[in-house]
Amino acid sequence: MKPIRVVLAGAGNCASSFSQFVAQAQADPAATPPGLMCRSVGGYLLSDVRVVAAFDVDATKVGRSLSDAFATPVVSATAFVPLGADGDSPVLPAPVLDGLAGPLGGVVQPADAAQDARPEDVTKALIELEADVLVIMLPTGASRAIRMFADAALAAGIAVVNATPEELARDEALCRRFADAGVVILGDDLRSHLGATTLHTALLELLLSRGLVPSSTYQLNVGGNTDFLNLADPTRSASKFTSKANALRAAGMDDASIAAGPTGFIRHLADTKVCFLNITATSVLGSEVKIDVKLTVEDSPNAAGVIANAVRAARLATDRALSGAVNDACALLFKSPPRGLPEGEARAAFLGFVS
Ligand SMILES: NC(=O)c1ccc[n+]([C@@H]2O[C@H](COP(=O)([O-])OP(=O)(O)OC[C@H]3O[C@@H](n4cnc5c(N)ncnc54)[C@H](O)[C@@H]3O)[C@@H](O)[C@H]2O)c1
Repeated sequence: MKPIRVVLAGAGNCASSFSQFVAQAQADPAATPPGLMCRSVGGYLLSDVRVVAAFDVDATKVGRSLSDAFATPVVSATAFVPLGADGDSPVLPAPVLDGLAGPLGGVVQPADAAQDARPEDVTKALIELEADVLVIMLPTGASRAIRMFADAALAAGIAVVNATPEELARDEALCRRFADAGVVILGDDLRSHLGATTLHTALLELLLSRGLVPSSTYQLNVGGNTDFLNLADPTRSASKFTSKANALRAAGMDDASIAAGPTGFIRHLADTKVCFLNITATSVLGSEVKIDVKLTVEDSPNAAGVIANAVRAARLATDRALSGAVNDACALLFKSPPRGLPEGEARAAFLGFVS
């Protein structure tokens, strides 16, 4: 197949793990590495992906290669494999806007080139790079910067994957603009490969399938990477709480009894994320069932597994002349798709779409 040329908006932890997953696939295209849910997405293999550039604002990353940017101390994603040829791809400056608002401003200094960058420079670069897909991996809550990237991709005619909880694929007006321009958008908010939301919705659906009635649930998440540092600021985390509730609602949970979101930054956890889940449900004769689960994962590789599907689905949708938000791809891969579905239906829709 033709290569899929991917540009990353945000050269942080998820970008590092995704680039490594691609490098691992490129090094041995015939292998099926652990965590690769779909070997083929409409004929596209993960080894068909090329990470051709990233945008960032961090003075320690801008102007450097991807390999060097991911080796800076602010990136806590584990370096499992070398990046290969894509490791030489450049990190380009982007407008800072609200990208470093809140606690991130205390650990990241903006590059001079980013202070001078304009949205039209992003559009121009995307066209010159002949990009197929832009993956937005900016800090949660950086609404202006995230919107700027969506607009820049739209102007360049390039498909968007929105890994953040910002409303893009759920924004009807924005999706109409993408549809009118013949451009695909997938989002919002990555559902991690085997993360808190995936486990939580699977447990809820199991209870419902046995006729139990879930009465309340909570999900507490702590971690030590910059995503968790950023989410420690309530003004940045609001969309994450909404997004997690959307996913639990789609699994059949009543809105009033959900509490789920990022609940603490613990620096020494670095890229380890710990999730505590509780579900209380009513069973036969009113008897009570309680489930308590602790899930520990490496946060960023968990995102890479889903991005690996999303970029290929975005390219496939473009090949099929689809445009706007494609719910058959979004419902499985994102916590807040335009129309949420129970996991089983979402998986069937996705597998039907990519077969
Ligand atoms: N880790 C997961 O499994 C997961 C799951 C779902 C969603 N997400 C979302 O993905 C996003 C990225 O997460 P991450 O862990 O990679 O975060 P991160 O903090 O490691 O990376 C964010 C990057 O964006 C850069 N940035 C800030 N402002 C910018 C701007 N204006 N232009 C370009 N770059 C800018 C930062 O310098 C940093 O390199 C977050 O919104 C997170 O909530 C992650």
